[in-house]
Amino acid sequence: MPDSSTAKNIARCVVRYYRKNRRDLPWRERGDAYGVWISEIMLQQTRVAAVIPYYERWLRSFPTIDALAKADLDDVLAHWSGLGYYSRARNIHSCAKEVTTSYGGHLPRTAKELRTLPGIGRYTAGAISSIAYKQHEALVDGNVARVISRVFAIEDNIKSTAGIKEQWRICEALVPSSAPGDFNQGLMEIGALLCKPKNPDCDLCPLSEHCRARNEGRIAELPVVSKRKAAREKPLLALEAGFFERGGKLLLAHRKAEGLFGGLWELPSSESRDELSALTGLKLSFLGRTASLEHEQVLSHRRLRIRVWPAQVSGRTRLVQGSPYQRLSWLRLSELPSIGISTATRSILQRRSEIRYER
Ligand code: ADE
Repeated sequence: MPDSSTAKNIARCVVRYYRKNRRDLPWRERGDAYGVWISEIMLQQTRVAAVIPYYERWLRSFPTIDALAKADLDDVLAHWSGLGYYSRARNIHSCAKEVTTSYGGHLPRTAKELRTLPGIGRYTAGAISSIAYKQHEALVDGNVARVISRVFAIEDNIKSTAGIKEQWRICEALVPSSAPGDFNQGLMEIGALLCKPKNPDCDLCPLSEHCRARNEGRIAELPVVSKRKAAREKPLLALEAGFFERGGKLLLAHRKAEGLFGGLWELPSSESRDELSALTGLKLSFLGRTASLEHEQVLSHRRLRIRVWPAQVSGRTRLVQGSPYQRLSWLRLSELPSIGISTATRSILQRRSEIRYER
């Protein structure tokens, strides 16, 4: 744990580094709580460069929290489409409604109040309150955890309960009351730009003098990390998807709000190809004995494999009792940008020219 003069010194170095080297990012230009909130949630799963166009489109469509609260969940999911982890978009939407009804459309200022809202955890609450409202709050994300674990030579695994507790304790001791947002963002910038997992740029780092990992020659050992669970150890979710076209339209299914891929549109899918007829109410004549396209993807807790089966169809669509879907619709491909589709579905549709129609 740093003494108070070391803490002050470190904070000064970080804030000075941030003010000199900060990247110009659209949410930094805006600087308000709404922009900080949306950007921080998007950045939790995606790199800065990929987030920028999503962020800009979001704010054009939903310029205020009130506008977001009034929007359809479908429209909100469409704007998230491709970012993954869709429960985050659903939480953002619920949160906007709660902020509109309980806080007059403005996010509250304190981390304590922010944490009572849907989808806002300790990190996001710290980010919104310190960056947008200049509150004296710390935060720890993956980048900060790495920087702090190195500077203070934390021996606990970076993701262990003990390690996380120590990172927060240290950040709370370091964050200055005068510029908490600049300090927090400075630590994140150092983690993102210099203190990278491999080959960090210690020569450019404003903390190198204070860094125990560097001074003790232990950069390669710290932080202590556990090996990533290999993809092959994750359970496989194998789905069979129907590719049914009629009159220039494609049959898409809208999942109910809860569960995996909740609220998103996808090709009607089931664990068994034989269930696709009951699931859609259609009479099916499959074109080909093998699936004509296969999509594979590693999700956070499982592997996903989707095999795609084109078929000739007849009859009318009908939802069965207990269906995972709330709606089945024949849609033109040109209509897809306006609905929320999963990354898997988007990828399959982009590859649709590979689909073979054998009789
Ligand atoms: N990563 C996530 N949020 C960030 C922020 N506000 N500044 C820099 N990197 C970040």
